[in-house]
Amino acid sequence: MFTSVIIPAAGAGERMGAAVSKQFLLLLGKPIIIHTLERFQMCGAVNEIIIAVQPSSRQQVESLIGEFHLSKATKIVEGGKRRQDSVSNALSHLHPQAEIVIVHDAVRPFIRQKVILDSIDKAISFSAAVVAVRVKDTIKVGTDEGRFERTLDRSVLWLAQTPQTFRRQVLIDAYEKASRERIDATDDASLVELLNIRPAIVEGSFENIKITTPDDLDFADVVARRFRD
Ligand code: CTP
Ligand code: MG
Repeated sequence: MFTSVIIPAAGAGERMGAAVSKQFLLLLGKPIIIHTLERFQMCGAVNEIIIAVQPSSRQQVESLIGEFHLSKATKIVEGGKRRQDSVSNALSHLHPQAEIVIVHDAVRPFIRQKVILDSIDKAISFSAAVVAVRVKDTIKVGTDEGRFERTLDRSVLWLAQTPQTFRRQVLIDAYEKASRERIDATDDASLVELLNIRPAIVEGSFENIKITTPDDLDFADVVARRFRD
């Protein structure tokens, strides 16, 4: 089945606070976004990769794709203000034959091949699949007055990661609904859930972090040194 990967890479990296957007910071001498793209380039089930970037970094990404021989990264499209806008624009550039769409953050370089393949299989069976890990800590609901109101049942709580994988039409329908009803979301699956579709859970691992703040770089360096897949 023709499978497209969308890599939103148009963020500014405000929480990282670096001079360049965090997707271009080096990990073992190579930009983080390249580590991420290589995970999908090497995956036999992937047919094309669409990257959403800010116009100011298009040239840099184009030359990196050449330098690292990322032959599946055939489209660089413009990102938007929100992550959701970046994904939405990439969706309008899907290959006509695409049946499965994987969305994966540019700043999650530690995704395993087996997890990618599991999420494709589950998306085929269930229309949507989300990689997630079980919550380890106890999660409490706080109030504006600085008090706790209640404690959630940890046994049903998961931390959602990416990849999030969908049948093409399901994701397009979800984005159309979001645009019509002006819904904001920080992940793609929550828009699909609004169509009353319940994404399948793909249990992933804690090493699949989203590099967000400076302390994540130390952890990423440790993981990168032992990452073999
Ligand atoms: N992203 C995007 N377009 C945006 C915002 C985010 O393509 N308008 C991408 C980021 O580049 C990243 C992924 O979505 O690969 C996850 O977003 P996040 O971790 O929030 O990255 P940033 O938005 O860059 O970071 P921050 O929120 O700290 O500014
Ligand atoms: Mg952000």
